[in-house]
Amino acid sequence: MRVAAIVPAAGRGERLGPGAPKALRLLGGVPLLVHAVRALALARLVDVVVVAAPAGDEAEVRGILDAYEAPADVRVTTGGATRQESVRRALESLEPEVDVVLVHDAARPLAPSQLVDDVVSAVAQGAEAVVPALPVADTIKRVEGGRVVETLRRDGLYAVQTPQGFTRALLTRAHDAAVIDGFAGTDDASLVERLGNAVVVVPGHPEAAKVTHPADLAAAESALSQRLARREH
Ligand code: CTP
Ligand code: MG
Repeated sequence: MRVAAIVPAAGRGERLGPGAPKALRLLGGVPLLVHAVRALALARLVDVVVVAAPAGDEAEVRGILDAYEAPADVRVTTGGATRQESVRRALESLEPEVDVVLVHDAARPLAPSQLVDDVVSAVAQGAEAVVPALPVADTIKRVEGGRVVETLRRDGLYAVQTPQGFTRALLTRAHDAAVIDGFAGTDDASLVERLGNAVVVVPGHPEAAKVTHPADLAAAESALSQRLARREH
């Protein structure tokens, strides 16, 4: 089994507000992207990491990764206009020997390496597609034009995280089909679901939360301090 982890990092981070591209914003003085790459590189079952950088920023991203001495084989590719396109381009760049692919957002800097290995293990044990997920805590309603049209039953609703893991063959087929059909999904598993293939769920982790809004960055700072404090005791 040869495992590659793709890190889409080419977004602008508009919801985080003005500043550098989100993946290069700092958490505990270290870029979000570097945190995410470290988690993947420190996982036992990941062989190579491929970062999709914003077009034009490839050299800067390479320089940042080198400056922080990523502890593994880390490559940089050019991202696309959407997350899906960034993933597809990185997928196309993988060497033929890779047979398992993880996709992990640069915007989830504190995902534990153990979670990464749990996802790979599930693929190794025969699942073609795997997502980490946590039950949602809020009541979720569908709203149109400022009015509630439906309240979804909360049991059975899960918030899905990354890393998501796939056999390379299935992920490639799912991305190819999405291009042909003009389908845009917000994660990779949704491209697999529309082919009718099973997607297996493993327990997610609170620290794999995504940094989207400024408050998420503050929450990540606090989670990082707690992690460091735990290690010092
Ligand atoms: N991403 C990407 N290429 C894009 C858009 C997004 O590689 N064209 C990546 C982001 O860098 C991020 C991940 O996909 O690591 C999840 O996307 P999101 O949280 O939406 O990040 P941004 O698109 O950067 O943020 P925003 O939507 O607020 O602009
Ligand atoms: Mg986005």
